[in-house]
Amino acid sequence: EKGGWSSFMAKEISEEPEAVAKTILGRVEDGLVRIPELAGLDDDTMRAIDRIIIIACGTAAYAGMVGKYAIEQWARVPVDVELAHEFRYREPVLSPNTLVVSISQSGETMDTLMAVKYAREQGARTLSICNTQGATIPRESDAIVYTHAGPEVAVASTKAFVAQITATYLFGLQLGQVRGTLTPEAARELVAELQSVPEKLTDVLANGERIRELAGWMADTRSVLFLGRHVGYPVALEGALKLKELAYIHAEGFAAGELKHGPIALIEPGQVVFVIVPSPRDENSLHAKVVSNIQEIRARGARVIAIAEAGDVAVLPHADEVIRIPLASRFFEPLLAVVPLHIFGMELAAAKGLDVDQPRNLAKSVTVE
Ligand code: BG6
Repeated sequence: EKGGWSSFMAKEISEEPEAVAKTILGRVEDGLVRIPELAGLDDDTMRAIDRIIIIACGTAAYAGMVGKYAIEQWARVPVDVELAHEFRYREPVLSPNTLVVSISQSGETMDTLMAVKYAREQGARTLSICNTQGATIPRESDAIVYTHAGPEVAVASTKAFVAQITATYLFGLQLGQVRGTLTPEAARELVAELQSVPEKLTDVLANGERIRELAGWMADTRSVLFLGRHVGYPVALEGALKLKELAYIHAEGFAAGELKHGPIALIEPGQVVFVIVPSPRDENSLHAKVVSNIQEIRARGARVIAIAEAGDVAVLPHADEVIRIPLASRFFEPLLAVVPLHIFGMELAAAKGLDVDQPRNLAKSVTVE
């Protein structure tokens, strides 16, 4: 039940902190990750994995893209992310040391299910990250890590997305621990930061007023662009998808570095651009590069809404609006930065008088190929 909320989506966004917390619960022991359900993939198997392919559709695929960056960093295993429907029909190269990780909220998405079956037939190992107990995809997989976001009713996925990222992170951390690519100290630090995310998410939700206001004023907007870099790139894609799904507005997400290779041609006066700004503390100085992207698009008349960490003053003179998120190191930013985008999509749809729980033409779970 909606329990006093205006929509299931509003309720489910409010449950994002809990979705992360519950997905972590019972999977940390002595400060390190130990996922009991991964017992089926013993340590030797985990060490032998030489390639990971994440398959999913829609929002789940964007969670997988975030997961790719983290798993590669922590476990030093190459990770590809593939849309399930593309993977299945191009005879991908698989081996017994390939781990195919499917991500699905419903566990019933036919495209994803067919890809998992195909991977198994080809001799790859399969791990299902799924939010629905006993669904078909986990039943067809060698191992299962459930996300514990609770039932998601709104068609557009929100709390399942943050739970999916959390589950891929837990998996990546455990893999890094087992393979020795993460020292126990480094793993403990990352685990502690992951455990601090729910509280930070509660802060983000408590500060949602400004993004709600902005959405309320933008009911007539025809097109919105989203830019992000590193793990902010999939967040940009997710922000754009939500706007298409919920508000039927043309929206596109880009990797910020790609701007000069094409998308900058789209920038004209009045174009609204969301920019997910990496932390100024980022060791690869991506922050400076993204701020310079903001200057480039601003010089061409775009209206920039930046999502930036608290205390990032460098962004202030360049953006029209700054939505603040709490301090977090780079891998934990996407979990925080996506929430204002979820709120924005929902509120803009509501401002247009649309049904946010049941957008036109979409189904919660697509059980046909
Ligand atoms: C789409 C939904 O049809 O399926 C998306 O509209 C969802 O919101 C996608 O992300 C994948 O669904 P699932 O259940 O496999 O995560």
